[in-house]
Amino acid sequence: MNPIMNDFQIEIRQGLPEKLPPVAVLDSALSHAPRRKDILSETEKKLALRNALRYFPSIWHEILIKEFQQELNEYGRIYMYRFMPKYIMYARPIGDYPAQSVHAAAIMHMIQNNLDPAVAQHPQELITYGGNGAVFQNWAQYLLTMKYLSEMTDAQSLHMYSGHPMGLFPSSKEAPRVVVTNGMMVPNYSKPDDLEKFNALGVTQYGQMTAGSYMYIGPQGIVHGTALTVMNGFRKILNRDETLAGKLFLTAGLGGMSGAQPKAGCIAGCVTVCAEINPVAAKKRHAQGWVDEITYKIEELVARVKKAKENKEVVSIAYVGNIVEVWEQFYENRIRVEMGSDQTSLHNPWSGGYYPVDLTFDASNQLIKKDPERFKIEVQETLRRHAKAINKHVALGTYFFDYGNAFLLEVSRAGGDVLNEEGTDFKFRSYVQDILGPMCFDYGFGPFRWICTSADPEDLAKTDALALQTMLALKKEAPLEIAQQMQDNITWIKEAQKNKLVVGSQARILYADAEGRIAIAKAFNDALAAGDLLAPVVLGRDHHDVSGTDSPYRETSNIYDGSQFTADMAIQNVIGDSFRGATWVSIHNGGGVGWGEVINGGFGLVLDGSKEAEQKLKNMLFFDVNNGIARRGWARNEEAIFTIKRAMNQNKSLKITLPNQVNDALIDGL
Ligand SMILES: NC(=O)c1ccc[n+]([C@@H]2O[C@H](COP(=O)([O-])OP(=O)(O)OC[C@H]3O[C@@H](n4cnc5c(N)ncnc54)[C@H](O)[C@@H]3O)[C@@H](O)[C@H]2O)c1
Repeated sequence: MNPIMNDFQIEIRQGLPEKLPPVAVLDSALSHAPRRKDILSETEKKLALRNALRYFPSIWHEILIKEFQQELNEYGRIYMYRFMPKYIMYARPIGDYPAQSVHAAAIMHMIQNNLDPAVAQHPQELITYGGNGAVFQNWAQYLLTMKYLSEMTDAQSLHMYSGHPMGLFPSSKEAPRVVVTNGMMVPNYSKPDDLEKFNALGVTQYGQMTAGSYMYIGPQGIVHGTALTVMNGFRKILNRDETLAGKLFLTAGLGGMSGAQPKAGCIAGCVTVCAEINPVAAKKRHAQGWVDEITYKIEELVARVKKAKENKEVVSIAYVGNIVEVWEQFYENRIRVEMGSDQTSLHNPWSGGYYPVDLTFDASNQLIKKDPERFKIEVQETLRRHAKAINKHVALGTYFFDYGNAFLLEVSRAGGDVLNEEGTDFKFRSYVQDILGPMCFDYGFGPFRWICTSADPEDLAKTDALALQTMLALKKEAPLEIAQQMQDNITWIKEAQKNKLVVGSQARILYADAEGRIAIAKAFNDALAAGDLLAPVVLGRDHHDVSGTDSPYRETSNIYDGSQFTADMAIQNVIGDSFRGATWVSIHNGGGVGWGEVINGGFGLVLDGSKEAEQKLKNMLFFDVNNGIARRGWARNEEAIFTIKRAMNQNKSLKITLPNQVNDALIDGL
């Protein structure tokens, strides 16, 4: 590190400023978090203020208390806007960070990426994605954390409590540099309003998955995951010799995550129609090139789709209107929908997550405010109609799956026809039950990712090439069961640069199994040792993975032994990763499906070309994936039993308890 520090480095080292900075003006060009629920009593509000003021010297309290009180009243949270840094926020080349530990500098790179206005959803409220996925609760926590990271050595660990840096504790070189917990609650205090209350008090936060764990890489992750879902979904229904050409995927939503659907459809090679009721969202995705064409009239859509199917075009079309109209009109016009789904925000059905048919977007929004009860009735009527139209298509052969957005749950609550004959379960399955679970997770394939901390696109291109070489070599030896997964990822990595999905840090995602992750990581570490890459590479993954997440209606929904409601796997994973070499580990309550509904965890591992890094990557990545496989196998998932047996053959120190099969007749005869 250069002993003469520049202004940025001086500010990082300083942490909280010595002089009270001027009042901040919010940037109106940026998106800001919605006003949060006013949930605290007057006494609790005083506690929230007391909690906030403890970050600052008492000499400032008289000024700050009024300001924080105003923030709490106006926004429902105390963000401490005045302490937002003035420097530009982005993932700088690692050498720019003042640090005694290279690994700590890599974490600073990752934190700044999650707060970069080009990456983050509400950057000034420290929210990276998903509306409430926070990196920190307030700016004081950010400043203190960066200071701790800049001064820590490789013999200390920083412990993060829901954004709050509790401090540096002596540890060892082998220990994680940072341990993150987000939103961990005593179980009885994990209801949605508890989050609102304890977050407003300043003692917990919603870390989502990759927000509060410093592992977000922009839209690339969701595009890749969605492309794999679409490709594998079609594979379930097409004959081996059939291609996706001229096949139709009909779905809804062009929002945060759902906006990836048309791009993914084009990568997979089908015709994609995506209905979006909000014209602004549809136009935005069209302008960004995420959807090829946009149409406002249902007759035009019908004609265009007929042509696209006939000509076997690979094209994505946004329809600005309600998805129910599309299902109904396609039925009337005999348009065959090969595959269908829905990604409206039905986890939030009564305040704009799902819009009723026969009402304009504006009229619906007015109704939400004026007559929320009426709005609810309209939504439920539409849901019943929605299911009816889908059922008609399904009778003609359409394959429909739930996309983890609570579609089936809300339709069933509305009395729609989505239950099986006995009324005991849904008649359609979810994308994890049918596609990602058995075809990817149970074989160990999940969203592995890496980030080049040089911030140099050349380094990313070199790592892409190394990953491709490695995957090609592994594919030659791969068993038939996983050959397709390998090929999909080989195709993806070949085209990764062409798809231009890098936003923020120089990052890449790739679905790989334990063997693939280890081999790719080793190739990077060797390249670093040989001086072929400019700076360390961070490895990580989405928590939405083989073993990161216990979530009974999503990641672990294809586990059927009752253990889908337990969270041992996620906790074991994080503890296990932490003593096998992770540079940082994180464990979260919430993420995707909501507070109290999921426990998810992850890691970051810095490769620096050293022998220690090689040892760590082999040991930690092997455990990180195989822990989940072992659990999935014990739940009797056949693909996971195959995979864990293969892993035991490859590594004789791995000894896993395997399930014995019980004769069905024995159970049925009871
Ligand atoms: N993509 C994934 O891998 C994935 C995984 C799990 C869950 N999900 C779920 O998918 C849902 C969508 O996520 P998002 O981030 O895109 O949300 P979002 O709110 O940003 O987007 C949803 C879009 O649906 C539109 N919409 C609502 N009702 C409609 C209707 N009747 N017809 C047409 N359009 C309508 C909305 O205008 C909105 O733009 C969430 O519930 C999320 O939890 C996605």
